Amino acid sequence: MNKKILGFLLIIGLALVFAFASNSLYAGTKVEDSFKMKAKEYKKHKKGIVTFSHKKHSTDYKAECGECHHDKDGKPLNDLKMGDDVQRCIECHKETKKKKDEKISKKEKIKKYYENAIHANCKGCHKDHNKEKGYKKENPKAAPVSCKTCHPKTAK
Ligand code: HEC
Ligand code: HEC
Ligand code: HEC
Ligand code: HEC
Repeated sequence: MNKKILGFLLIIGLALVFAFASNSLYAGTKVEDSFKMKAKEYKKHKKGIVTFSHKKHSTDYKAECGECHHDKDGKPLNDLKMGDDVQRCIECHKETKKKKDEKISKKEKIKKYYENAIHANCKGCHKDHNKEKGYKKENPKAAPVSCKTCHPKTAK
């Protein structure tokens, strides 16, 4: 084999090694500090799009990862770290289309419907927080619990 081809192969090899190495550096799911909650599984959103400050919730409001993220049995993922693979809520709470007058328990609804799971999680903690602080719903300092304080007016 001549030197030129050998050099060429070496470069290709190095490029491959580098590609794999950098790939593993970025393995797992990245998360923005703040993002719009707009699941693509909805054809159309009925309500305004909520902006969620992921970073503020875990740093300023001191919420544990496991207060929102859990495994397939609903067990809290308290040891989660940034960069770990994290499933989206809708991967398990799959349904977006609600059937009217469906006779299932509140718990079953949460398990089934994305919207119910999200509302139970977000509003549940917000209600507890406001109760603990003695905030009424109307208090501007209160964590949002009513539709309009969380969903902005214009649906986008
Ligand atoms: C207050 C609730 C809450 C807390 C606390 C929280 N998260 Fe999240 N996290 C979410 C929500 C909601 C999403 C968006 C999931 C979705 O789109 O279904 C998300 C998304 C993510 C994603 C990106 C997933 C993707 O595919 O887009 C990662 C990674 C993540 N969180 C890691 C963490 C880690 C690590 C912690 C703890 C340090 C943490 N989260 C704390 C609610 C929370
Ligand atoms: C890997 C699948 C999976 C993912 C991902 C997932 N869940 Fe769940 N979740 C479950 C299961 C299963 C249950 C029911 C557990 C039980 O029956 O006790 C559950 C239960 C819940 C409950 C009810 C908890 C209670 O105390 O009654 C809420 C609220 C909830 N999930 C919200 C979320 C939110 C918000 C996310 C995303 C940040 C999420 N889930 C991601 C599988 C998942
Ligand atoms: C474990 C508790 C907890 C959970 C779960 C939680 N929050 Fe909060 N959230 C808080 C607290 C505490 C505040 C109020 C902080 C303050 O203003 O002092 C807050 C404030 C907010 C605010 C107003 C201030 C801001 O940061 O923009 C929004 C919007 C919000 N939460 C959205 C959400 C959404 C959406 C979810 C569900 C995906 C969620 N939260 C889940 C604890 C929680
Ligand atoms: C704590 C914030 C919060 C509060 C309070 C809240 N929601 Fe939501 N809601 C959300 C988030 C976040 C989603 C998920 C949107 C997504 O990821 O696409 C959602 C989803 C929805 C959806 C499905 C998506 C759509 O737009 O069609 C409906 C409908 C909805 N909410 C209605 C309501 C109604 C009605 C109320 C009052 C009874 C309410 N929400 C209160 C945060 C909130």
